Amino acid sequence: MQVEIVEDYIDISKKAAEIVKTQIKDNPSSVIGFATGDTPKGMYRELIKLYNNGEVDFADIKAFNLDEYYGLPKENPQSYHYYMMKNLFDFVNIKKENINIPNGMAESIEKECEEYEKKIQEVGGIDLQVLGIGRNGHIGFNEPDLKFEAETHFVELDEDTIKANSRFFHSIEEVPIKAISMGIKTIMQARKIILLAFGKEKGEVIYKAIKGEITPEIPASILQLHPNVTVIVDKETASFL
Ligand code: F6R
Repeated sequence: MQVEIVEDYIDISKKAAEIVKTQIKDNPSSVIGFATGDTPKGMYRELIKLYNNGEVDFADIKAFNLDEYYGLPKENPQSYHYYMMKNLFDFVNIKKENINIPNGMAESIEKECEEYEKKIQEVGGIDLQVLGIGRNGHIGFNEPDLKFEAETHFVELDEDTIKANSRFFHSIEEVPIKAISMGIKTIMQARKIILLAFGKEKGEVIYKAIKGEITPEIPASILQLHPNVTVIVDKETASFL
């Protein structure tokens, strides 16, 4: 694991956006795995800037998001679908047919998970996966568990995750308690991974993920076994390392 410590959130966002830009320059039809949440918002803003300056072209990339809440239609402002449109896709030239986000309204959830996984495999897997990390160590919605969940699957969200994500909703009761998430194996098969974290809040879990025991109780700790992971953190997070 390579750990890059930068000054602040803006620098994390710039560095991450540069990595995505380079990936797309090197391979314009890259398969990119995107994340939602607060952490990558700055990176998306930087990518939009780079796009407007003609420095990056999304025309041929294929995007696969990590996860989606179960039971939220894509028009719902809290859905990850909506998030991706409003934070990135509406502002760049990605083709609609190349946007892939699990369908939280699918009639058969099992089928949706299977098909999502199949689609990722059919395009040859993910070239670059962007990850944030939950305070409980989750990546995607792979919650702490007794075993690592391999492929795209249906998840019951952790209490801690529901609490953390309630900041995006009017009340905690509105937070969906289920989701669809790429699995650990799917993520680990990505050829390159960047894991972003900022602030004191993420210090302890980043420490556990990169220096602690590899255990499904801290799902991100499995990344220690991946050959090409760059962790980008600010000074506050890094003060825990
Ligand atoms: C989002 C995702 C989650 C978040 C994590 C951190 O697609 O998969 O694992 O990356 O919950 O969220 P923030 O960035 O809001 O702290």
